[in-house]
Amino acid sequence: MARKKIVAGNWKMNMTPSQAVALCEELKDLVKSEDVDVVYCVPAIDIVPVVEAVKGTNVEVGAENMYFEDKGAYTGEISASMLVDAGVKYVIIGHSERRDYFKEDDCLLNKKVKKAFEAGLTPILCCGETLEQREMGITLDWIRMQIKSDLVGVTAEQAASMVIAYEPIWAIGTGKTATTEQAQEVCKAVRDCIAEIYDAATAEAVRIQYGGSVNAANAAELFAQPDIDGGLVGGASLKADFGKIVNYK
Ligand code: 13P
Repeated sequence: MARKKIVAGNWKMNMTPSQAVALCEELKDLVKSEDVDVVYCVPAIDIVPVVEAVKGTNVEVGAENMYFEDKGAYTGEISASMLVDAGVKYVIIGHSERRDYFKEDDCLLNKKVKKAFEAGLTPILCCGETLEQREMGITLDWIRMQIKSDLVGVTAEQAASMVIAYEPIWAIGTGKTATTEQAQEVCKAVRDCIAEIYDAATAEAVRIQYGGSVNAANAAELFAQPDIDGGLVGGASLKADFGKIVNYK
């Protein structure tokens, strides 16, 4: 069965609640699609108004982060059950900005991935290499290490239902997109890694996105690659261009 494409916006730390609602309104007709799953991953404070604003549309809401504990004295954190109760369906885990600025390591991310599944959320697990790692020729080793460590204890059935986003760090917010060949090569390596950990059927089912300076001009070529099942979009998800990315064909 063909995998359905999934295009997710990662709003990062942008949009106040009122701006968020206005953006949903602006994008409403532009992101309509039957062939593509559309997700807005929004700042925690925007979740409640955005869930309300996209009611009755084809858009699902995602969070940009969560904590792995159920509840308790973890000041500033948000649990998986809070997200579920608010109407969230997806959660980004292990974005390179969280790994880098907030020192989230693979051991922590593994706990988050497992908790997300337990709560019924679909993780969008991010992986990606630095420019230095690419130049050293260790991109595929690095990605495989991230995926393998982040998925310890995750079942094949869970893995089949998740989303993995390959985001080369040097391509994020830089306007420097990976070439189609580079993006396809790593997304294929991610799929091969899933086949190695689980089996061919799980690898066939898992959806793998490319992220890093995706825009209205390059989306069609990237998404046409055999192992690229859509995109995780930063900057371009905050404007009307996002509609063009969703309707890339
Ligand atoms: P840009 O699309 O702004 O490069 O960001 C990519 C990204 O980090 C999405 O998670």
